[in-house]
Amino acid sequence: MSIELTDVTFRYPDGSLAVDGVSLRIDAGERVAIVGQNGAGKTTTVKLMNGLLKPTSGVVTVDGIDTRSQTTATTARSVAYVFQNPDDQIFASDVLGELEYMPRYDKWSEEKTRERVTRAVRMSGIGKFLDVNPNDLPFAIKKFVAIGAVLVGEPRYVILDEPTAGLDSRGLALLNRTIGQLQDEGVAVITITHDMRFVADSFHRVVAMAHRQVIADGPVEEVFGQDGTLRDARLQRPEAAQLARDLGLQTTALGIDEIAALIG
Ligand SMILES: Nc1ncnc2c1ncn2[C@@H]1O[C@H](COP(=O)(O)OP(=O)(O)O)[C@@H](O)[C@H]1O
Ligand SMILES: [Mg+2]
Repeated sequence: MSIELTDVTFRYPDGSLAVDGVSLRIDAGERVAIVGQNGAGKTTTVKLMNGLLKPTSGVVTVDGIDTRSQTTATTARSVAYVFQNPDDQIFASDVLGELEYMPRYDKWSEEKTRERVTRAVRMSGIGKFLDVNPNDLPFAIKKFVAIGAVLVGEPRYVILDEPTAGLDSRGLALLNRTIGQLQDEGVAVITITHDMRFVADSFHRVVAMAHRQVIADGPVEEVFGQDGTLRDARLQRPEAAQLARDLGLQTTALGIDEIAALIG
């Protein structure tokens, strides 16, 4: 089970090249962060993964099936995409209605609907807001409504586009809890983020993009250790890791606790 991009190129209808020869494989259950400056091709890459966009050349497969051979709705059922801005995704007039959109559309039984919605509500922590109009909710809560709505479909891969933007520390803790639960269930979590602390704390693998290509792909400690990659992708090391460098410590540790132990 995996999402596989093989030598994928994508041009928007106006001719702009957005993804240039990307090959990438993400296995079931992985946690992958895609990083890089604006315009690097990150959002286009994940939209290719969930079938919203189809490659101009090259091949994208999800669990062995070419995304060109099925509808976007079918691909998106396995590969859920949570938009950066929840307002682009939420349309119902109350939270429960948003969660029940897919069950209604697909004409699920009452029992299946209740079971899946209950699970999604639990994982996204939005139980208190079911009868509220999403427009009346703070941005951070709306994000969890958007996450809950895609979890109803029990996707095998979940893509979160800039999920930490606009979250306070409580929101961040809840997000990490949701990600942990998804991983426990074997769901792959793919994020696009500028938040290197979030990457260091919650992800195992980093894909760095620059100029519409993948310039590094590997364990978090390894990619953050490469000065050239950091420069080309205009990335900042997580603060604790930079501190370790400044102190001249020979370590690939990224967390403040690990580094404090080394200074001891
Ligand atoms: N809808 C679009 N039409 C034309 N060009 C686009 C469109 N969306 C993105 N691009 C271009 O494609 C390139 C990659 O964009 P994008 O995938 O959004 O990168 P990122 O998410 O890393 O910021 C950029 O040069 C951007 O200007
Ligand atoms: Mg983007």
